[in-house]
Order: sequence, then structure tokens, then C-alpha cells
Amino acid sequence: MGLGLWGWGSVDGTMASPAATCILAWALALLCEGTQGADPAPCVFPFTYKDKVYTECITEDSDQPWCATTANYDQDKAYRVCSEEAYGGNTDGQPCFFPFVYQGHTFHTCTTEQSHGAQHWCSTTANYDTDGRWSYCPDTMLGGNSQEPCTFPFSYKGRKYTACTMDNWQRPWCATTSNYEADHTWRYCGMAAAGGNLDSSPCVFPFIYKDKIYHSCTAVDDKMGRPWCAATPNYNEDHLWRFCFSKAYGGNTSGERCTFPFIYKTELFHSCTNAGDKMGNFWCATTQNYNQDKLWSYCPDIILGGNAVGKSCAFPFIYNKQVYYTCTSDGESSGKLWCSTTGNYDVDKKWTYCSTPDYDKPCVFPFIYKKFKFHTCTNLAEDSGKFWCSSTDNYDRDHQWSYCPA
Ligand SMILES: *[C@@H]1O[C@H](CO)[C@@H](O)[C@H](O)[C@H]1NC(C)=O
Repeated sequence: MGLGLWGWGSVDGTMASPAATCILAWALALLCEGTQGADPAPCVFPFTYKDKVYTECITEDSDQPWCATTANYDQDKAYRVCSEEAYGGNTDGQPCFFPFVYQGHTFHTCTTEQSHGAQHWCSTTANYDTDGRWSYCPDTMLGGNSQEPCTFPFSYKGRKYTACTMDNWQRPWCATTSNYEADHTWRYCGMAAAGGNLDSSPCVFPFIYKDKIYHSCTAVDDKMGRPWCAATPNYNEDHLWRFCFSKAYGGNTSGERCTFPFIYKTELFHSCTNAGDKMGNFWCATTQNYNQDKLWSYCPDIILGGNAVGKSCAFPFIYNKQVYYTCTSDGESSGKLWCSTTGNYDVDKKWTYCSTPDYDKPCVFPFIYKKFKFHTCTNLAEDSGKFWCSSTDNYDRDHQWSYCPA
């Protein structure tokens, strides 16, 4: 017998694959549906086919990957051709957005939690709780033998992985315990909403691509000139990448904006840091005092760069024999702000990009104070040590100021 679909099962007693059945149905101008269509039934994993249990789309007896849409194909004969893209939901199949927040929890992979129809779904925006927009997940992204979240780092074939890695079909997967060899539990990772082949795993700097080392996002080899980064130290080996984000993301604030400068331990950070991050990822505090508030985000990828990423600015520093008390764009063709991470740039040549606060004004940057140009909030001359900024471009002239948002 063949795979049955609405009675379109066996064709001349030969084995008819789902794909073949579909093509036949289409040829007859009938909807090749029932399991697909306006609101297609999603895959059900695991399902049984010919008395074997499958946890992902299969190509058994078919030239296209397919899955059952009930737990038992042998009994119900309901299936669909697996979709490589998100579908249905209330968004007409917009792509998944990872990570997303649902009931206050962060999800990096598709979930069946409180699911829409008990199947794998994903949010199509960063926050399901506020937006309520969702799709069914691409079927080919589902599978594995574990519903647990990814565990990083995990070891696999003698290597440690700090991000999802690719299988033979270029699908990102992760182990769900720290030791794949011992536990053999795994699942597929989410695909990036914006492109690339990863969910929002942080960029890894520096990374190797072809024969060059990159210390920041690059647009090299992207036809549309979009900045991207590798999510592994060696792109050539792991092929993991995604487009760079221009906003903060993740962390335990769902990507609230960075606050600069911020205090962490005993240091004042004017830019993102990877201090204290086990995986070396760059983060920022979202309030002025991390020690007190412990709120953080991953940094916008595009502000990372320089050859001393994550080191704090060393103010004042010397550059071209001048003394700088704040970040500067001098000598930087992109106009981005940077600082030296040692007291003397001319000697040490160590630098990183600075990040400007981007909360709802009232700061105006740069502003002049005591004839110095300030590109960031400062606590100079402020007894309480609180940070302030000018609300016009010239404090000396206008004396308009406000505290910087905590
Ligand atoms: C945020 O993360 C830090 C460090 O992991 C933790 O100490 C803190 O409790 C977290 N805060 C919240 C609100 O989750």
C-alpha cells in the first residue's frame, strides 16, 4: 500500500510518496491539502510510520521531507510535506523571531508551551506577551530528542561548543546537556529572523572569515552591504553567522538600552564589556549601577569593534598629543566615537568604540562644558557622583542640564 491521502493513496498499486500524491492531486487541479492549506495542520512529533517512531521530518518513501500530522500515520494517514519556512499562525507565516519572550520567559527555540494547537510555534516579534503574533515553526527545524533548552557550552566529538553548530544538512543544533557524548540529547536551534543561520546568539569577536580576522561586524561578501558577524571564533570551520543588530538584545531585560557609563564591580564602563562573561560575550548594564541593579543586555553588535573591545576607556587619554576627557570621533572616518583603553593612544594604540546613550533626550551630544567637548554623560563637578549632561550643545552658554537616566 502507499501513503494514503483522502483516498489518493496507492497509484496502480505502486508506492506513492506524499510528494507524488501531491503532484497527482495538483495535476487534477484539486487541492493537495487536507493536511496543508489555508490553515495547515502542523507536523506532530513523534509520529509512527510503518511501526517506527520518528522525531523529525523524514524522506522515507518520498523525495521530499514529510511528517505525519497525527501521532500515528499508520492509523490516520494524515501527513504534510515539511515546510522549510514558518507558516500559518496569525501572521500568515512570518518568520520566527529568536529569542522571544512568552509569559516572561525567554525562548531560543520553538516551543509547544501553552501551544497553539499543541504544536511547535514561535513568536514573530521579540515579545509575544505584548504583541501576540505567532507562526507555526518551520517543520524542518523541529526534531531532536529533547525539548529542553540548549546547554552551552556542550562538548561534542572532543570539541566544546558555545553556540549552535551545523549538522550535515546545514541545520543548527545544540545539545541539551553539557555532554552530548554521554547523554545524546539534542534539538534544533531557532533560525534567525533577520537572516543568517542562527538565533540571536551573540557575535563572537574577533572571528576568522576566509583569511582575515574581524574585530567588528563586517559587510564583506553581503550583496546588500548589510553588516554581519560570525557567532563562532572561526567562521571557516563552523559557518555560523547572523546579521548584526543595531539595538541591544536579550540579557535579562529583553534588550533594554545600554546605560553608559555604568559601574560594574569597581570599574566605570563607557562601552560594552565582556568582563565577567563566561563566554566572552559583550554586555552592558541597563542602569548606571550594575552592582546594585544587576540588569543587563547584550550590546548592539554594531557598536563593538576596535582592537581592545570590552576594555574600559582610560580617561584622560592622549591622542595625537592632545588630552581627551571623553570619547571622540577625531580621526575616525565613520564619525563613530572611540576612546583609548590606555592612557596613551600614541604609544599603545589600543582602542574601542564608545557607545552613546540613546534614551529619549534631553541630553545633547556633544556638549561643551568648561570648553571641553563631551560626548557622553559625565559626573565631573557633581558632588553626588551622579552623571549629568547638558540639554543644549553648550553648557557654558546655556546652563541647561539634567541628570542622565538611571
Ligand atoms: C540578571 O542577571 C544577573 C546576572 O546573571 C542576576 O544576578 C540577576 O538576578 C538577574 N536579574 C533578573 C531580574 O533576572
